[in-house]
Amino acid sequence: LWVFIQLAGTMARLVECVPNFSEGRNKEVIDAISAAISSTPGCSLLDVDPGASTNRTVYTFVGSPEAVVEGALNAARSCFLTSSMDNCVQCANVFGQKLAEMLHVPVYLYGEAARTETRRSLPSVRTGEYEALPEKLKRDEWAPDFGPADFVPSWGATVTGARKFLIAYNVNLISTKEQAHRIALDIREQGRGKDQPGQLKKVQGIGWYLDEANLAQVSTNILDYEVTPLHAVYEEICRDAEDLNLPVVGSQIVGLIPLKALLDSADFYIQRERLFIIKEEHKVRLVISKLGLDSLGLFNPKERIIEYMVKSQEDGQLVSLSLRQFVQSVGARTAAPGGGSVSAAVGAMGAALGAMVGQMTYGKRQFENLDSVMRRLIPPFYQAMNELLDMVDADSSAFNSYMAALKMPKKTAEEMKRREAAMQEGLKQAVAIPLALAERISILWPSLKEMVVYGNFSCKSDAQVAAKALETAVFGAYYNVTINLKDITDEAFRAAVSKRASELLHEAKDSSAAILHAAEKRN
Ligand SMILES: *[C@@H]1O[C@H](CO)[C@@H](O)[C@H](O)[C@H]1NC(C)=O
Ligand SMILES: *[C@@H]1O[C@H](CO)[C@@H](O)[C@H](O)[C@H]1NC(C)=O
Ligand SMILES: *[C@@H]1O[C@H](CO)[C@@H](O)[C@H](O)[C@H]1NC(C)=O
Ligand SMILES: *[C@@H]1O[C@H](CO)[C@@H](O)[C@H](O)[C@H]1NC(C)=O
Repeated sequence: LWVFIQLAGTMARLVECVPNFSEGRNKEVIDAISAAISSTPGCSLLDVDPGASTNRTVYTFVGSPEAVVEGALNAARSCFLTSSMDNCVQCANVFGQKLAEMLHVPVYLYGEAARTETRRSLPSVRTGEYEALPEKLKRDEWAPDFGPADFVPSWGATVTGARKFLIAYNVNLISTKEQAHRIALDIREQGRGKDQPGQLKKVQGIGWYLDEANLAQVSTNILDYEVTPLHAVYEEICRDAEDLNLPVVGSQIVGLIPLKALLDSADFYIQRERLFIIKEEHKVRLVISKLGLDSLGLFNPKERIIEYMVKSQEDGQLVSLSLRQFVQSVGARTAAPGGGSVSAAVGAMGAALGAMVGQMTYGKRQFENLDSVMRRLIPPFYQAMNELLDMVDADSSAFNSYMAALKMPKKTAEEMKRREAAMQEGLKQAVAIPLALAERISILWPSLKEMVVYGNFSCKSDAQVAAKALETAVFGAYYNVTINLKDITDEAFRAAVSKRASELLHEAKDSSAAILHAAEKRN
């Protein structure tokens, strides 16, 4: 919704934009959208109104017409990135319907949003193009999904759809255009036609000559990188090129890429070549080098990986604070952050110390015989460290849905019933988070027991602190589970969770004691 405002007594003209987003519970998504709007130059975010029961959030922001459109687009992009395909299909539907109502023009849905198989591919919807549209609109099978089946000469028709993230990926060859095209025909799903399909599913491809680089390229679109990952395209093209005695000289990603696509490829090379790489930054670097992504120009992860571009908006509020600010905000006269966030933070530090002891042992000449042990022991700590950090913020949002339920209306019996059900659901969620924290730590105990025996002796005290820190985190989680559990009416749920929480607490106590004992014995 766009509202025009003429400011009294001035010439200034403002536009107010009031979009509703179909998400009223997930704080991460709600905050990401807020951040996208308020970080748009010239946009002032006046109000954010999340509705847990209606599950939608209304944003109100103002600015010049240009700034407000930019803000709305940024908000849509951030919502798109944090939401699933269902939400995208919903976006296409809502947009299509509203556009048709607003302009009285025909609108078609395609891709994942298509309602019939014949409309799934964009080329099929566009067959005949503008010129064929008047005739097409008269036929039943091309009745628009929204709007009238009327030809609007000044507009034509609009196609709106949803799809997975598409990666535009080109592999460089020192060859002729024809040779590159031959490889493209071999690899692309469509192949050379119906009887001769190509090697790779969900990949489109053609060969061309890139004059400015004086190279040939197999130019591909990867339509689903979870079906055919980046490295699979590269490796397949390398194999074909080798058969033809043609050199591959790097490759190129056009535009942006999701982090997961790069990390999947990093994991492939790490496994194939039995490498030991745990830092994300190093994994990204590995892929850049393996695929030669720098071959036609610098590949700067900060400008090419989607997650890195929206990172500042996605990181939780608490984990982004300085240690000083975090500790002081725990000490402030507010209920959150409290024991839950502190437990997660302490657990993260315990895991970090475990990783540190390993790193102070791995790759040193003196401990060469321990390298394979350390390659096995370090990654669980490193991964837990990052996941526990994410839980620092998860905890403070755990109670939000319970709080929202408390505020639900309770006048009629029906309302009271609904409120009670929402409260119970909120409590279960509040229990699930500390329980997950304890479970997360549970898998570290065997590794820490080995680490304290084999790790660099000078880091003994670090391993001891790790044990106590992890134990403390489980303690915090246990007591929090217990507190919230007592108000849950679902007997079976209560019994199961209570049993599991006790097991985890005992395991933590016993393991920590055993580790400290082993440390004492090591001299
Ligand atoms: C947005 O939500 C508000 C509050 O529920 C509602 O009044 C308004 O009609 C909604 N707007 C749209 C475009 O759905
Ligand atoms: C709220 O809306 C989001 C996005 O539309 C959806 O994924 C989620 O399942 C909804 N939550 C509930 C509890 O309905
Ligand atoms: C217990 O849970 C609440 C809500 O999830 C949280 O605010 C609090 O910090 C937690 N306390 C402990 C000791 O885990
Ligand atoms: C063992 O750890 C200590 C730090 O506690 C470090 O100074 C030392 O260099 C490490 N040993 C080796 C062989 O790297």
